[in-house]
Amino acid sequence: MEYTNLGATGLQLSRIAFGGMSLNPDAAAGQRLLQRAHASGITFFDTADLYDHGRNEELFGAAFRHCRSEVVLATKVGNQWRADGQGWDWNPTSAYIRQAAEASLRRLQTDYLDLYQLHGGTLEDDRDEVLEAFGRLQEEGKIRHYGISSIRPNVIREYVPGAGLTSVMLQLSLLDQRPFEAMLGHLRTHNVGVLARGTLAQGRLAGKPATDYLGHPAEQVAQAAAAVQALAIELGQTPATVAGRFVLDTPGVTAAVLGLRTETQLDEALQLARCPPLPAEARAALLRAVPANAYEQHR
Ligand SMILES: NC(=O)c1ccc[n+]([C@@H]2O[C@H](COP(=O)([O-])OP(=O)(O)OC[C@H]3O[C@@H](n4cnc5c(N)ncnc54)[C@H](OP(=O)(O)O)[C@@H]3O)[C@@H](O)[C@H]2O)c1
Repeated sequence: MEYTNLGATGLQLSRIAFGGMSLNPDAAAGQRLLQRAHASGITFFDTADLYDHGRNEELFGAAFRHCRSEVVLATKVGNQWRADGQGWDWNPTSAYIRQAAEASLRRLQTDYLDLYQLHGGTLEDDRDEVLEAFGRLQEEGKIRHYGISSIRPNVIREYVPGAGLTSVMLQLSLLDQRPFEAMLGHLRTHNVGVLARGTLAQGRLAGKPATDYLGHPAEQVAQAAAAVQALAIELGQTPATVAGRFVLDTPGVTAAVLGLRTETQLDEALQLARCPPLPAEARAALLRAVPANAYEQHR
């Protein structure tokens, strides 16, 4: 397992992160999977208060309350469930962030969050208010670090540089090279960690049917998936490990946040952790298989 520091902090974490969004709400199975991941060397776990109305955080809390100091827990804030439970509204106010942090701490059965991420964000948000809330939580010891999860370059640039962010979670894969244009360089320059999600393009790079994706027509998606598959056969790996290695090998990427739901998916994530970087020619072949896309909105 590879470990690294998150951004400019001394926080050490595994480069494979367990993304819990699609975990089975069956508490026993979810906890078992999380605990096996931890026992196998994964130390970085990502959830959000939004997922499954908070029940996703509860799974992590139950799984790690006895070994809290051995894991790095990241969660997210900003999407407030409506009282009737039918959908949510964006709420980046200080009062809400503080109240939501307390609720996440309770569900995660801990007295501190390692990484607290703004779960989205718009140019209309009051950035100073968000930062004031994060700053106070940090002073109180309730959060160690804060970051943002966003695929909007213009919003990310509102926060980097100058706002004390530790990390940005963004989407990145062979089929989503949008951060390559400028964002990865920008974050590297300012020593902000990059947490890459969408490694498998929601499964399209690992066997799910090819459909249009982020400006790529389905035919291009199929071409990319075929190139990944061919390389997997050549290297004796699986499409998921090749797609994962593509992301981990990208300069500036701190960790890949993999959406893990089944034992087999965890097995493949652990296999990825043992794979060496792709040979340079293999990476070049992947890059030739699909044209780069670029951010069209929120540039
Ligand atoms: N805005 C945000 O902050 C945000 C948004 C999305 C996700 N996330 C985080 O990122 C994590 C990853 O989510 P993602 O949607 O970006 O995931 P992804 O890795 O691009 O794709 C996950 C999909 O791939 C499939 N899959 C997983 N492992 C596989 C394997 N070994 N072989 C074949 N298919 C496989 C899963 O299918 P099945 O489930 O059908 O098995 C799932 O549909 C989430 O858990 C969450 O922590 C954050």
